[in-house]
Amino acid sequence: MTQSTGHAQKVSLTGIKPTGTRVSIEEGGSVHLGNYLGAIRPALALADRYRCVYFIADYHALTSQRDPDALRENVRDVAATWLACGLDPDKMLLFRQSSVIEVFELTWIFACIVATGQLERGHAYKDALDRGEAPNAGIFNYPLLMAADIILYDSDVVPVGPDQRQHLELARDIATRMNHLYGEGTVVVPEAVIAEAPTVPGFDGRKMSKSYGNTIPLFLPHKALRSAIMKVKSDSSAMEAPKEPEGALVYELFKLVANADQQAELAKKLRAGNYGWGHAKQELFEVLEGQLAPLRERYQALRANPKEIDGVLEAGADRARMVARRTLSRVRRAVGIE
Ligand code: ADP
Ligand code: TRP
Repeated sequence: MTQSTGHAQKVSLTGIKPTGTRVSIEEGGSVHLGNYLGAIRPALALADRYRCVYFIADYHALTSQRDPDALRENVRDVAATWLACGLDPDKMLLFRQSSVIEVFELTWIFACIVATGQLERGHAYKDALDRGEAPNAGIFNYPLLMAADIILYDSDVVPVGPDQRQHLELARDIATRMNHLYGEGTVVVPEAVIAEAPTVPGFDGRKMSKSYGNTIPLFLPHKALRSAIMKVKSDSSAMEAPKEPEGALVYELFKLVANADQQAELAKKLRAGNYGWGHAKQELFEVLEGQLAPLRERYQALRANPKEIDGVLEAGADRARMVARRTLSRVRRAVGIE
């Protein structure tokens, strides 16, 4: 995407799949601490180096989501979450995938140059078959829509975790093939950047995930957040005993949120003894609360005002559509439709 200011800054694109769960504001919203520390915070940090485009992949969610109200509410919840976490809609682009229907025209054009065998090798599709499911055509075509998402906005880089790597390889293949068939410069070939993001453990020590039921919702109110942190697993060593912080779950979580001085201080107290895991959890809670309280306040204010969220998403879609139409018109001319 060419920046309106004329800077030749690269475009980084992030697709956000709505979580699929409907959780009330009092229960802390649909996003958990693992999503925040492992995906949202690193993705927002890219805004220093790139022109950032974020969109909510609601049509991707539809491959499995069958509850219309949940989908509607989820999209707003996710938008409010990212805005509360620092997404600045004046500097970055935020919109819903479904607001820019041009993406389907590009999906079709790509469908016509991709061999079905390539889609049959898709991990998500194959996994569904292995589980004995009968995957719908949306799941089969999921990587095509994702390639169109990426290429429609002239994305240079796409930060992805390992699970999305294969999809990105397909997008690169498609872009390269388009340029080979229709001339260099028809589309931008995207690059995967492997996100430098931590894996956040849940309160039981396994990876924090909705599927394990071990999450800490990001916007839990003060008291509930404290109770959730107190549930973090620790051993039963006596209060007086010196404790090794490294490898202990409380300390691993603490390292993800506290600064170097705070970390060194907590480690010292634990090693000295006469300091229980409960004290360390209290410390973790305080650091987290200090960081999350202002975000939670913004989140709650936004959730109370859905019109404001919709307004931001619509303004983002208007700008996204302009880029999409420019790319599409280039592609349409190249393939002979225009
Ligand atoms: P869940 O496993 O709870 O269903 P999702 O699959 O919806 O989470 O993940 C959404 C985003 O958050 C992805 O980018 C994913 O890599 C990231 N994420 C999820 N859980 C964690 C975690 N425990 N640590 C780091 N990142 C995570
Ligand atoms: N497939 C991604 C996921 O499941 C979401 C997504 C859709 C995406 N379109 C994208 C990610 C484009 C990056 C670029 O999380």
